[in-house]
Amino acid sequence: MRTPLCDLLGIEVPIVLAPIIAPVGAPAGPLLAAAVSEAGGLGTIALWLAELGVLRTRVREMKSLTTKPFAVNLRLDLDPDVRLDACLDEGVRIITMFWGDPSELAPRAKAAGAVVMQTVRSADEARMAVDCGVDVIVAQGWEAGGHVWGTVATMALVPTVVDAVAPVPVVAAGGIADGRGMAAALALGAAGVWIGTRFLVSAEANFHARYRERLLAASETDTIYLENLFDGGPWKDAPTRVLRNKTVAAWEIAGRPPVGQRPGEDAIVAVSASRGNIERYAPVAPVIDVEGDIDALPMWAGQGVGLVKKIQPAAEIVREIAAEAQSVLARLGTTGEN
Ligand SMILES: Cc1cc2nc3c(=O)[nH]c(=O)nc-3n(C[C@H](O)[C@H](O)[C@H](O)COP(=O)(O)O)c2cc1C
Repeated sequence: MRTPLCDLLGIEVPIVLAPIIAPVGAPAGPLLAAAVSEAGGLGTIALWLAELGVLRTRVREMKSLTTKPFAVNLRLDLDPDVRLDACLDEGVRIITMFWGDPSELAPRAKAAGAVVMQTVRSADEARMAVDCGVDVIVAQGWEAGGHVWGTVATMALVPTVVDAVAPVPVVAAGGIADGRGMAAALALGAAGVWIGTRFLVSAEANFHARYRERLLAASETDTIYLENLFDGGPWKDAPTRVLRNKTVAAWEIAGRPPVGQRPGEDAIVAVSASRGNIERYAPVAPVIDVEGDIDALPMWAGQGVGLVKKIQPAAEIVREIAAEAQSVLARLGTTGEN
């Protein structure tokens, strides 16, 4: 299955592993991303919070694990310039950007020869990004897990973004967890899909067993969109979608009080070998080195979690989604090539 996105990025199947910030600090970031790249998709590592030395190490790990294309994700409101320079210096060819205005960074990355992808929440933002030179638009619907940039659902967002920027390729993100979702995204005009939640239970992701257990058991109604409950550190007034948990339940019972008045505001609920003490509302997902009250921590997940049923190697997930999409499209009498 090939689309113009494959030619532009040099990949074989138009499936992108969404950047997942949580594994930073452990080698599962590159391990997971490289597995997706090796399977013919685009692996992405989120390095927007990484110190420059760590960033360079992660990029080198990636290059030692795969010779295929991969991307680095940078956050536009958190000193992206120096990180971009380090990425370019390390030979990163694809940069994905989110959470802000790409007008300064996109031209700089383009001038250095990189392919630039930008996550948007509206057709207007997509147009602005393309005007700045962005090569690929990622349209993130609010079904998405993790931090959610907009409030429009994928089904409504993708076609308006496609219409706004054609022929620039659009990648659909949010709620896509199997081949049926991929086929639907292609039917909406997307040139590829960007998947996070399904890969949280890949064999290579280093999340805590309890987080995986909850992901595998969750239905499509078990997530909640929160304006700012898990704010702190690098995140302020940053909406997220997570699995409902005891922290969310206690906050709801307390009448959804604002930041500063939430129940158990400063309580230490867990500890991590790499990060130290974790406060109740800290935006820290349970990775394998966390111990304590795991059920109190934010477990990011999109609504597609209801389709996530087993732990599988990332390559198998890529192959399974691509094959299923292809058979759905064949059944519907189309090839999926937009
Ligand atoms: C645990 C987790 C961490 C994420 N971290 C990032 C990140 O660092 N950068 C980013 O651009 N998006 C991040 N996202 C959002 C994804 O890029 C993507 O939009 C989302 O996962 C797509 O929806 P889905 O989860 O329904 O597949 C994250 C998502 C999850 C679930």
